[in-house]
Amino acid sequence: MQDISAYLSANANNMKKSVIRELLKLTNQPDIISFAGGLPAPETFPVEELREATDRAFRKYGDKMLQYGTTEGDNDLKAQIIAYESEQGVQLGMQNLLITSASQQALDMLPKLFLDPGDMVIAGRPTYVGAIQAIQSYQGKILGIPFSSANDGFDMVELEKRYQRARADRKRIKYIYVIPDFQNPSGICWSEEKRRALLEFAYRENLFIVEDAPYREIRFIGEPVPSIYQLDQHMENRGIVINLKTFSKILAPGTRIGWIIAREDIIQRLVIAKQAMDLCTNMLSQKLLAEFMATGRTRAVIERTCGIYREKRNFMLEKLEQYMPKRFDLTWTKPEGGLFLWISLPHFIDTDKMFYKAIEKKVAYVVGSAFYFDNPEHNAMRINFSYSSFEQIEEGVKRLASCIQEEIDAHDAGPRGQTLPEGV
Ligand SMILES: Cc1ncc(COP(=O)(O)O)c(C=O)c1O
Repeated sequence: MQDISAYLSANANNMKKSVIRELLKLTNQPDIISFAGGLPAPETFPVEELREATDRAFRKYGDKMLQYGTTEGDNDLKAQIIAYESEQGVQLGMQNLLITSASQQALDMLPKLFLDPGDMVIAGRPTYVGAIQAIQSYQGKILGIPFSSANDGFDMVELEKRYQRARADRKRIKYIYVIPDFQNPSGICWSEEKRRALLEFAYRENLFIVEDAPYREIRFIGEPVPSIYQLDQHMENRGIVINLKTFSKILAPGTRIGWIIAREDIIQRLVIAKQAMDLCTNMLSQKLLAEFMATGRTRAVIERTCGIYREKRNFMLEKLEQYMPKRFDLTWTKPEGGLFLWISLPHFIDTDKMFYKAIEKKVAYVVGSAFYFDNPEHNAMRINFSYSSFEQIEEGVKRLASCIQEEIDAHDAGPRGQTLPEGV
């Protein structure tokens, strides 16, 4: 048999398997409580309403539902999205909108459009693993920026330092990738001040910003902060922000529909990039979503979802407080939205190694190291609070806490506890 590896392109050789997807395979046993996946809670899906919308759409559009559509996206859906965005204070026209096969396609289109091998993207340390994978598959690199200790966005001093160093090394930096609302994996939400500071930086350095916002509407505590896209409109209105949205977390990920909001010339370029990928986005999904949105029920569904997640998030925080070992170096984020929180552990705990012990105790998380392009941190984990039931959350946190306690005990009983031979 011919060995495929000798035939692969450099791009294909750069494609890395998602660590998360590999680990998720281990968590598929029925008795494991998994905080590892990023799945929305199935009880939030408006199943019946989407079924009715599909019936109506078939009656209304008939064969058009089954035909190819334009690459830009279906006009009925675009009109609904324009109205929906306008309710949230984002003004845009048809020419600023491109419908995609959810956000992951957009994340693949952007490096395809912007990156030559070796080009760099500025992104958080940690950041969304699907974005890292896409950038790597076009032989791009990531200039990682840590978050501030206040968890309100990038550490701007580090951004300047690392950026200037990369420039001095003659690196070509093309865009900044951020998830300002309830980041995956950390749950961090950027303050308005930090969003403005990032825009100022991008204006000064002539960089584009890709604002990935799948969790923007999944805010269940506090007041919304303007998006970076909106802030640009109010500041210098240079059109440097490319805003990515999706139905995955606000309605249902199985619809596989998202949208990109950007300046017209950028949209036109993205349309060309998309043509070779899939000609057009799934028409059935687009039409059923257009029909669903026309009922005016989208916001109500989101509010219901936020209510469910608020309770689950509060419950998980309460249980973490109750069961986790009490130490200054064991902390977790307290997100005001999204699906995840991030646990930082004592430096001597390697969550990659602990993962297998956790599986033995029938609980799973995602290893923190999966969210780094290079030099991963090993003493953190991402846990999801949207999917598990309340009972599973309590039992899972208990199991996780006992796993961590065992690591701490083993460390405390380590070299310090042992008597070493004299002279060593
Ligand atoms: C930050 C971020 N961006 C993009 C995606 C991709 O979402 P989708 O392709 O379902 O829209 C996800 C999925 O979890 C995500 O967390």
